[in-house]
Amino acid sequence: MDDHRMDIPGDDDEIRRIEAAPPSHRYARGWYCLGLASEFMDGEPHKIEAFGTKLVVFQGESGKLGVLNAYCPHMGGDLSEGTVKGEEIACPFHDWRWGSDGRCKNIPYARYVPPRARTASWPAMVRNEQLFVWNDPENGVPDPTIIPDLADKFSGGWSNLSWKSEVMETNVRELIDNMSDLAHFFYVHGEGKRHGPSYFRNIFDGQIAYQYMEFHEKGSKMIHDPGIPFLGTVNDLAPGNFRSEGVYYGPSYMINPQWRNAAEGQVEVILFNAHYPISPYRFMLHIGVMVKDAPQLSAEQNAGRAHFIQEMLKGAFYQDVHIWKTKTRIDNPLLCHADGPMYQLRRWHDQFYCDLADIDPLMTKRFEWTADLSYANEVWEQQVIENIERETRRARK
Ligand code: FES
Ligand SMILES: [Fe+2]
Repeated sequence: MDDHRMDIPGDDDEIRRIEAAPPSHRYARGWYCLGLASEFMDGEPHKIEAFGTKLVVFQGESGKLGVLNAYCPHMGGDLSEGTVKGEEIACPFHDWRWGSDGRCKNIPYARYVPPRARTASWPAMVRNEQLFVWNDPENGVPDPTIIPDLADKFSGGWSNLSWKSEVMETNVRELIDNMSDLAHFFYVHGEGKRHGPSYFRNIFDGQIAYQYMEFHEKGSKMIHDPGIPFLGTVNDLAPGNFRSEGVYYGPSYMINPQWRNAAEGQVEVILFNAHYPISPYRFMLHIGVMVKDAPQLSAEQNAGRAHFIQEMLKGAFYQDVHIWKTKTRIDNPLLCHADGPMYQLRRWHDQFYCDLADIDPLMTKRFEWTADLSYANEVWEQQVIENIERETRRARK
């Protein structure tokens, strides 16, 4: 063997080396939420940097939304600097008119349009008050039913959908990893001062990935069969309990209902966690929050309460950012028995990065895993006490 270091016991071969291949320049097949639909429906062209290029989003006179590569194939003009004229977006450079299907419909100064005058277009739809585009390197036909329609939540009994978006300077895998990273909920999101998850289950099945998580007050038990969605109300949770169901529908769109039966009050929210890649090294991270009205409150009181909860959750959502900024990419995480199924999660997500014909059946096969958190919970309970005591001492100084 050429590598003479192999002969030295206890040397390099015992050190775990971080491996990290550069991220894929392919963008996962799926529906991506670009943001609140209303923001794009003003008759103006909007620019979005995504999928390694710039997109133009526009709404034609009939109300139809178009999403095209912003760079005009004529001479490279930027359509997002153009003007909506009728059903088309007109390029600011030479006024070529592009339809939402990506075809050039008219060149005002030419007798006819070259038959090959077609640019990249992304099928678009509005759902849950959000604008979605379908990205597919194979140009397959999208299935709109993948994204659940929560129309009943938008027709009364719930607050507005409050939205926030921020660019993250890293690859999207860091975000997806959260799905199975149960310990970070204690250390990052709980800041070591609130108890960690007492129940955690992942299910990966077809194009859907589930994260069922509960936080229990000491001594309180789950009342719910863990492996299926919770269909009860917040009243069904023991006092102090919190349940969260984060479900990815495809590579980038999570709907996350949460129920909290806290001493301060009962809260039921739906959190939308969505992203789209800008480049292999950046992505846009969205959070949307809506809050279920409390029946005993007036409309005005409910709006105020919802606003408070929405701002709080939006603030907490970006707690991962500092970790992402300072960590390194790692293809071979060194896991312990109390960590979640990170490799199976990544395998599930890989299905969206390959051609349909190349999907390994293991990527979509149902996989279920439940954490044994009895030991972790004992430790975390103790750590919460110590961390709070330490902070109190520091504050007194
Ligand atoms: S570059 Fe767009 S019309 Fe010429
Ligand atoms: Fe996180």
